[in-house]
Amino acid sequence: MRKGRYLVTGGAGFIGSHLVDRLMESDPGRVVVIDNFDDFYDPQIKQANIARHLQNRAFRLYEADIRNYNSIKQLFADEVIDVVIHLAAKAGVRPSVADPRTYTEVNVNGTVNLLDLAQKNGIRKFVFGSSSSVYGPAAIPPFKEDAPLTPISPYAATKAAGELMAHTYSHLYGMQIACLRFFTVYGPRQRPDLAIHKFARLITSKRPIPVYGDGSSERDFTYIDDIIQGVMAGIEYDATPFEIINLGESQTITVTRMIELLEDALGEKAIIDRQPPQPGDMPRTHADISKAQRLLDYQPSTPIEAGITKFVDWLKKGGKV
Ligand SMILES: NC(=O)c1ccc[n+]([C@@H]2O[C@H](COP(=O)([O-])OP(=O)(O)OC[C@H]3O[C@@H](n4cnc5c(N)ncnc54)[C@H](O)[C@@H]3O)[C@@H](O)[C@H]2O)c1
Repeated sequence: MRKGRYLVTGGAGFIGSHLVDRLMESDPGRVVVIDNFDDFYDPQIKQANIARHLQNRAFRLYEADIRNYNSIKQLFADEVIDVVIHLAAKAGVRPSVADPRTYTEVNVNGTVNLLDLAQKNGIRKFVFGSSSSVYGPAAIPPFKEDAPLTPISPYAATKAAGELMAHTYSHLYGMQIACLRFFTVYGPRQRPDLAIHKFARLITSKRPIPVYGDGSSERDFTYIDDIIQGVMAGIEYDATPFEIINLGESQTITVTRMIELLEDALGEKAIIDRQPPQPGDMPRTHADISKAQRLLDYQPSTPIEAGITKFVDWLKKGGKV
């Protein structure tokens, strides 16, 4: 059997680098990464995320911007790829409110560039990293994939647009596409802007943590290993040409409870700096994962209590994996 040849966009980032690790463990034919080491957070963190693979002959890094069609076109000409896993994006809800144009350029135009190049190069399999934020505040929890979407941030709208473009390419060209809606992902290497990581660092250094709203907003926090399990199953899935599938933990907790769990794991008390609710933030997220269970045999196995402990262990060891 031929060994898989994978293109992971955003492969130096938090989720992307964990996926690269998993693919490299599978003795692949090739793992190709595109990443522009965007400065949304320290690019050195991203360099470190993939450093262990740089000398491996099965691995290839292209430092390129997915907005630049011609530079990534060359990569598609040079590499033989079976599956594109598209995770490169401007992430983050709040910064997207301030900079909607850049989010659109990267998350919408960049996604169309990749769909187009995949199609033109005969790559039939495409996995798109979407987000729970597409649901918006009108969705009734637990969110089912067929709920109407009411995105309330530019980031969320760009992810919904990416899904629509993916559907269009699947319909027009028979591409086999899975859009996976990730629900707040955490674990080792988590983006430093995301609440668990940011709060943990602030609590450890005895600085106040900004809590937007009264702490009653709810999140379905999903441990990175569970997300990677779902993505790997999404890569294999081929029963239908197009699917949108939630990947969550299906266990929603309040921000206040998340802070208590962090306090317990860190052995420190948090100093709360209460701030007004932020525009674009969802009041709650909660995944219905029955479709993922049915189609992908997805079985998330890390409840938040265990996952926070693992995250804090990683942080205490200096944040290196
Ligand atoms: N982390 C979460 O909780 C979460 C939740 C829902 C969806 N997602 C989605 O999952 C994917 C990965 O998220 P993450 O948390 O690992 O974020 P991340 O920022 O760590 O990873 C994204 C990577 O994409 C790269 N990138 C950004 N712009 C690029 C460009 N123009 N060209 C090439 N590379 C570019 C970045 O340098 C980074 O390495 C994203 O698509 C994100 O929207 C993440």
